[in-house]
Amino acid sequence: MKKFIDSPFVKAMSEVTANMYRQGWDERNGGNISYLIDDKYIKQYFPKEKVIRDIPMTFAADPIVRNKCFLVTGTGKYFKNVMKDPETNLGLVRIAKNGKVAHLLWGYKGGGKFTSEFPAHIMCHTERLKVNPNNRIIMHTHPTYTMCMGASTPVSEKEFTKRLWTSNTEAIVVFPEGIGVLPCMVCGTNLIGEETAKKMRKFRIVSWTNHGIYGCGNDMDEAFGLIETVEKTAMVYMISLGHVVNVIPPKVLVGLCKLWHLHPMHGVFKELDVIK
Ligand code: 13P
Ligand code: ZN
Repeated sequence: MKKFIDSPFVKAMSEVTANMYRQGWDERNGGNISYLIDDKYIKQYFPKEKVIRDIPMTFAADPIVRNKCFLVTGTGKYFKNVMKDPETNLGLVRIAKNGKVAHLLWGYKGGGKFTSEFPAHIMCHTERLKVNPNNRIIMHTHPTYTMCMGASTPVSEKEFTKRLWTSNTEAIVVFPEGIGVLPCMVCGTNLIGEETAKKMRKFRIVSWTNHGIYGCGNDMDEAFGLIETVEKTAMVYMISLGHVVNVIPPKVLVGLCKLWHLHPMHGVFKELDVIK
């Protein structure tokens, strides 16, 4: 029988958390990740599913995610420790058919539970699955320069997007839909989960002012790459702040959109709004 600890899913989680920690984004227990795993894979590791224990949830999960399995980082756990002890720092849960409880199938050894941001994760999966049935990853982290930009930019999606798009030609190519922005809110609540999920109907990245960022993707590379591009661009913006003599002009943004067949967020530059 294949052991889940040896699965590519645990490996992907271990590698990405170690990498994110090395970037300096996930201090202490900062950050959390959830990975939707299809039943065809779950069956290979758990032919007869045994529930270790039930973990209550504070919200009712949407039918689209009920009876689905997620590998999720544990609350209070440190990204730097996932690689050396995945079974303590991660857990595999199946959302119950009634949507109110999570059945623990593997992990959270020693009595742990899923991240305090579980509502945001499951609600974001719900909304992303409605627009992209292949979405598997929701990733939350605290990247330094993105947080600096959040603190120094008005709470405005258009303004945040404009600053990023004009600092790095990769930005508009990687996130033509722009970046969603939420004001500073109490984290770990159903409310911030609901607000983030609403943004995720339109955006694949959402900045939490004074806290961090949420990203998503079909796989770990995609979600990480999205956040990495935002963070790199924010770094360029913040380091060059006040000294900039060259910003990317709208005509180059138009050229990039035409080259890559992009439909960029409206309202940032009038030159981009006319692209068909
Ligand atoms: P958890 O340890 O509960 O995952 O919380 C970390 C965090 O980043 C909260 O937003
Ligand atoms: Zn956080």
